[in-house]
Formats: sequence, C-alpha cells, structure tokens
Amino acid sequence: MAARIVLFGATGYTGRLVAQALVARGERPVLAGRDGSKLEELAGELGGGLDTATADVARPDSVRELVSRGDVLVSTVGPFARWGGPAVEAAIAAGANYLDSTGEPAFIRAVFERYGPGAEAAGCGLVTAFGYDWVPGNLACALALREAGEAATRVDVGYFMTGRAGAGDMSGGTRASAAGAVTAPSFGWRGGRLVTERGAKRVRSFPVRGKDRPAISVGSSEHFALPRLAPQLREVNAYLGWFGPASRPMQAMSLVTSLPGVGTAVAAATGRLVKGSTGGPDAQQRARTGSHAQAIAYDAAGEELARVVLEGPNGYTLTGEFLAWGAARAAREGLRGTGALGPVEAFGLDELQAGCAEAGLKRA
Ligand SMILES: NC(=O)c1ccc[n+]([C@@H]2O[C@H](COP(=O)([O-])OP(=O)(O)OC[C@H]3O[C@@H](n4cnc5c(N)ncnc54)[C@H](OP(=O)(O)O)[C@@H]3O)[C@@H](O)[C@H]2O)c1
Repeated sequence: MAARIVLFGATGYTGRLVAQALVARGERPVLAGRDGSKLEELAGELGGGLDTATADVARPDSVRELVSRGDVLVSTVGPFARWGGPAVEAAIAAGANYLDSTGEPAFIRAVFERYGPGAEAAGCGLVTAFGYDWVPGNLACALALREAGEAATRVDVGYFMTGRAGAGDMSGGTRASAAGAVTAPSFGWRGGRLVTERGAKRVRSFPVRGKDRPAISVGSSEHFALPRLAPQLREVNAYLGWFGPASRPMQAMSLVTSLPGVGTAVAAATGRLVKGSTGGPDAQQRARTGSHAQAIAYDAAGEELARVVLEGPNGYTLTGEFLAWGAARAAREGLRGTGALGPVEAFGLDELQAGCAEAGLKRA
C-alpha cells in the first residue's frame, strides 16, 4: 500500500500548486498548515474530502504530530532558513521520508551537513530543493557526466528563464527567500571539497537560444549531490541567469554585503520589507515563461566533453509537478537511500529523467 503523503504549507502559493498536481495524479494528500479554515476551504476546492491537519512551526510539537513512520512529508513552508527546521526535524523524529521546495543555499547545506546523519540513523531520506531549484541542473549535470565519463573533473550549470518575463513573475515566498539568500554566505565545490564563498562571487555566460546570457554563481544542491555521483569531480559551479545585465552589479553588491556586519544589517532590513504569502504568477502568467538549464562537463585541461540542455515550462509549474511526482513515487516505491539525498540518488537517473519529462522538462 502507498504511504500517506502529508503536504505542509498546502495553503501557500507553492503548496497549492503541489496539492493540485497531487490530486491530478490521483493522490490523496493530507493538507497541513497553520490555518484550519484556509485548509478546509482548499480541501473544498480540490474536492474528494481530503483530510486536513493544523500545525504551526512556532509550536514544533504540532509539526511532529503531523507525521508517523513511513509517511512522506512534503514541506513548502518557507523561507526555510527561518521556518524550515521543524518540518525536517519532525520527519527525522518520526522516520518519515521528506521532500521540500527550498532553493536557499544555507538551508540546503544544513540538510546535507546537519540533518543528514540523523536521518540516516532514523532510516529515512531527506530530499531537499526538489523544485525548479535545483532539480533541472542536477538532472542535466548527471546526464552530461554520464556522457562525459571518468575524464570529467568539472561541471558548470546555468539556469535561465525563457519567454516574456514581466512584473509578478516571482511569488511572495520567492522574494522573501531570495532576500535572505543573496545576503547569506554561500558555497562552491572547489579542489574536490566544499568551500564557503559569497553568492554571486563569479559571473559567466552561457549560449542560450543563440544569445550569450550572463549568470551569477549560487550555492545549490548540485554541489553536494554531484560529487557523490562522480567522485572524481574537482569543481562544481551553479549559476543563476535570471538577472541579465544586472548580474555584474549583483556581483558588486554581494561583495559589499559580504563585509562584516553589512550582510546582517541588509538581511534584517529586507526581512522587514519583504512579506511572504502574497501569492505568485497565475496560470496565464506562468504560461508566458519557460525554463532552460544547461550543463557542461569539462576535463582537467578545460576541454568541453559533453553538454546537455533541458527546456520546459515555468519554474513554479515545474516545482508543483516535481514535488507531486517525487512524493507519489516516494509513497509507492520509497527512496533509494537514507540520509540527505540528491535528486538522482533518491530516485535513480533514468527514473528522474522520466519524471521530469512527465512535468514537461526535456532535452532541447
Ligand atoms: N525551489 C523552487 O524553485 C521554489 C519554487 C517555489 C517556491 N519556493 C520556495 O518555497 C517557499 C514557499 O514559497 P511560496 O511562494 O509558496 O510562499 P508562500 O505563499 O508565502 O507560502 C509559505 C507557506 O508557509 C506557511 N507558513 C508561514 N508561517 C508558518 C508557520 N508559522 N507555521 C506553519 N506554516 C507557516 C504559509 O502559511 P499560510 O498559507 O497560512 O500563510 C504558507 O503556506 C519559499 O521558501 C520559496 O522560496 C522554491
């Protein structure tokens, strides 16, 4: 029998997308969140008399009561650096498999370094950042590394938006999380180990649909997951190409905010200004933009060995579909390991590629 899926954060923008995608797949998630009446309203909209459960991260006991051994807990409660801990701790305490929608470097690092060993001891798996951040790059890089073989010692991946971007393309939750992530210390994989460095430290460009587009370096799950798949990797670089010509100014800003004390002050100021739960792009707006992830594997001399380009729908659409696919698969087949797992480790490369294709993300 399939395990129970508990969706924490169901009434948020991303949570709703995941709930809709789960129901469309015939799943019956328990809708969990902090507001009972909003949950009942959502259950009514989705139909089928889904169960609901209330829990608040300010009361970690209430989050622990959501899950039991063998359940699958999906969390979309963010910003994760601020609110993500109780859900992952609840999954470990119960021995439940866990997936989340974070894109935040500091939280990803905490899942791999701080929470992973506890999950391993508890016999459950943690699949962090299983959304647009950072599944397409994990898949593109794993495919490029398979094609490149043992000689690949470095992989670079860039994330870009295609189509007609406009105001309102980012959800309130993304803005709230991004405000913290730009000012927080980030990381890279250099010389065969994880090193702490500021976000946007590097800028490089990738050819996207015939045009060179710049992108800034960012800490992502690729830095943890890929060296486990290809232990010969000396360097993993992930880049975010959403900012176009603003990429260089962002590099300069990240240098300023990395100065002692400045980052904390900026984070505090942006934290006060940015509000979450303000919704995000509707289906019509999402249909205007798409996503492009490009991975390039290099040998030790810097020669390109393989390049994989994946394209698909809007990042929020992908996030809803990925999390629904991952939760449904984890509920039926379990995960392929315990502890903190990268997307390929959790599901297998061919299976992940098939799941992403179902969501519309395919080789271009
Ligand atoms: N990886 C990706 O590509 C990707 C894509 C989309 C989103 N995200 C991330 O996912 C997170 C959610 O984004 P979003 O746009 O959905 O934001 P959102 O609409 O603000 O949703 C946040 C959710 O957290 C819940 N929440 C807040 N405080 C809580 C508390 N004390 N106890 C329990 N629940 C609480 C909110 O509950 P209410 O509904 O009651 O307000 C809401 O359900 C953000 O961190 C965002 O960056 C990442």
